[in-house]
Amino acid sequence: MNSNMWIRQIHRWLSIAFTLAVIANIVALTMQIQATWIGLMAFVPLLPLLATGLYLFALPYVSRRSEARS
Ligand code: HEM
Repeated sequence: MNSNMWIRQIHRWLSIAFTLAVIANIVALTMQIQATWIGLMAFVPLLPLLATGLYLFALPYVSRRSEARS
């Protein structure tokens, strides 16, 4: 598996962690539990999701440019 595929896999699995954190947030909201750490739980996977997502976005443009060069 090359590094691009690794980044895609990481993005995939982080999206599951993020989804679970969002569900936990909704449950906490409906149960009227106020805990900052539950809110922050969604932030932890969201930051690497953003980084890997932007990498995946840039990938086709970067590879097209290097193909044109070679
Ligand atoms: C935070 C900003 C995010 C950015 C910039 C971003 C960007 C991207 C990009 C560019 C792709 C690749 C699309 C392609 O195939 O060309 C992708 C794939 C994907 N994204 Fe995101 N994404 C973000 C957040 C999320 C979130 C919040 C979720 C779900 C909770 C998510 C789930 C996925 C999944 C499941 C894929 C498909 C992965 C695969 O091909 O195996 N992403 N994303």
